Amino acid sequence: MHCQWRDCKEWLDSGLPLSTTSNEAVKMYDAVVTQYVSWCDNDSVGGMEKSVETMMAADPQFVMGSALANGLDLMATGQSIYTSADFKKRVDDMVKLATTSDISQRERKHVDAVKLFADGDMLGAGNKWEDILLDHPTDMLALRFAHDSYFYRAMGPQMRDSVARVLPHWKPTTPLYGYVLGMHSFGLIETNFYDQAEKVAKKGLELNQKDAWSTHTICHVLEMEGRQMEGINFLKGTESDWASCNYLAAHNYWHWALYHTERAEYESALGILDDIISRGKASGALIDMVDACSLIYRLEMEGVKTGDRWNDMYEMCRPHTSDHILVFNDVHILLSCLGAKKKEATIKMMESMKQFVSEKVGTQNDIAKEVGIQLCAAFIAADEGDYAKAVDLVHPLRYKIVTIGGSNAQRDLFNLFLIHAALNSPKKEHHCLARSLLAERKAFKENAPMTDRLMAKALALHQS
Ligand SMILES: [Fe+2]
Repeated sequence: MHCQWRDCKEWLDSGLPLSTTSNEAVKMYDAVVTQYVSWCDNDSVGGMEKSVETMMAADPQFVMGSALANGLDLMATGQSIYTSADFKKRVDDMVKLATTSDISQRERKHVDAVKLFADGDMLGAGNKWEDILLDHPTDMLALRFAHDSYFYRAMGPQMRDSVARVLPHWKPTTPLYGYVLGMHSFGLIETNFYDQAEKVAKKGLELNQKDAWSTHTICHVLEMEGRQMEGINFLKGTESDWASCNYLAAHNYWHWALYHTERAEYESALGILDDIISRGKASGALIDMVDACSLIYRLEMEGVKTGDRWNDMYEMCRPHTSDHILVFNDVHILLSCLGAKKKEATIKMMESMKQFVSEKVGTQNDIAKEVGIQLCAAFIAADEGDYAKAVDLVHPLRYKIVTIGGSNAQRDLFNLFLIHAALNSPKKEHHCLARSLLAERKAFKENAPMTDRLMAKALALHQS
């Protein structure tokens, strides 16, 4: 990988001056942003963690360095100012440093956005990053932080339009240009522009075949269009390009396992699942953990025996049971408690979620109150064998679940859960609901062997 990181003068010349005189700090800022948008550690700077350390050591007063480091920790969703006193201090120090430093308006807005996000105001933070992009459309950090903040609310149109607005200002020679296409393609797929998404992602891959985010968009296109065999072959054929992108590789493997699950190739899916679990153990990254929980649950709904894998997942998720950083994470963490049969942990987690809703204010509190607690209660009901209750809890939430964030493919877990609960419920009207949901599913994706299998079950129930 190239390591010609931009120095102070180059950042100034590109219209994005950084307030520090340390070329070393600025070069590491470039290295960190590059690793963030490419989803890969760069060995020449010792990886992400090391380059953040080098950046801060080169100039501890570097305000944008501090905003970058704190923003990255927030986007990783593994800690918050409410769960870590150390992190709270770092955010407070950043704000103090910005107050006493001679920095540009753009840099000040970055600090404000990170602070808003840290305080739980995800929408306010997104608006602030957009405000930066109006004047500085090539500010990659603002673009990607905004993108991630929208992802955490499943705001597809915002993901798509935010990138579309800045695209005319990006030239193929602008550093990191290809990744902008990857981001645009993801907004397109999440708003169901399948053809356009595929076209833009392929253009991103033409520019850089190691762009794991464009690869990821193709995974989504093939998933949504029921092109499972093409998906398996695509990922197999490009594995060496994206498997080293340690921040996204497990997720792309997860997509690979979804194709196998749909095709009832459970042994292949289990093999990939074990790889994701190993990667999650090594990384401690929430994205790896939630994907593994989701996959185990999906396989179990298919009737696959998953052995003691839930115990592994519970041990990995345990430190995060009272975080409540994202409702999306909370629901998956709760699945690990249920799967590992940790009754006490389940009760404690629900109590802690309720306390979170009553004690604090913010975007995620509202979502937990309106969707999260009821959704978790539905999974608990199903775990206790009360499928009718699970249906009654989750069915009214159907079109609200989108607010918990994640992608359409990730949230499909909840569509499948409702169908399974309806099939397992003793009530005839729930069986009828399952048939209607499956008809809807088939209309959306025709080549879907899993839907066909479930429909066969539903029809057998109807005839019995
Ligand atoms: Fe995905």
